[in-house]
Amino acid sequence: MNILILHGPNLNLLGLREPEVYGKETLDDINNMLHAIARENDVELNIVQSNHEGMLIDALHEARTWAHGVLINPGAYTHYSYALRDAIAAIEKPCIEVHLSNVHKREEFRHRSVLAAVCVGQIVGFGWRSYTLGLTGLIGILSKSEPPT
Ligand code: DQA
Repeated sequence: MNILILHGPNLNLLGLREPEVYGKETLDDINNMLHAIARENDVELNIVQSNHEGMLIDALHEARTWAHGVLINPGAYTHYSYALRDAIAAIEKPCIEVHLSNVHKREEFRHRSVLAAVCVGQIVGFGWRSYTLGLTGLIGILSKSEPPT
């Protein structure tokens, strides 16, 4: 089973960036946790972080041919990127949206996700655990489904 992990803009600064909101773990720490879960479940991960919308879209398009599912923290693109939403819809792979912070407790512009409707589900507010819960959930969903054609 192959899974694409996508980290959007500013997530490369995790650990340094507003640790009271996003936690003190770095992106490498989170990726290591995801790799550990992947190893236990015999899953291959491809992990991409980008600060550029087009790079995230390209990674989604490429995933069409090799990935069974996608776990994404789209960062601020969550709230306004119709292009990312269309890319997720276009590739027709189960996608889980995760956020470290509880976006619903924060500024109003963060309450809306334009991607949620094309994702299987959303996990918000569990810090780094949003990622581990999301990956475990995605693996569970994919284990029950047919392989992509
Ligand atoms: C975030 C929430 C977004 O609103 C914000 O722009 C981020 C991080 C989160 O993981 O909590 O960059 O996606």
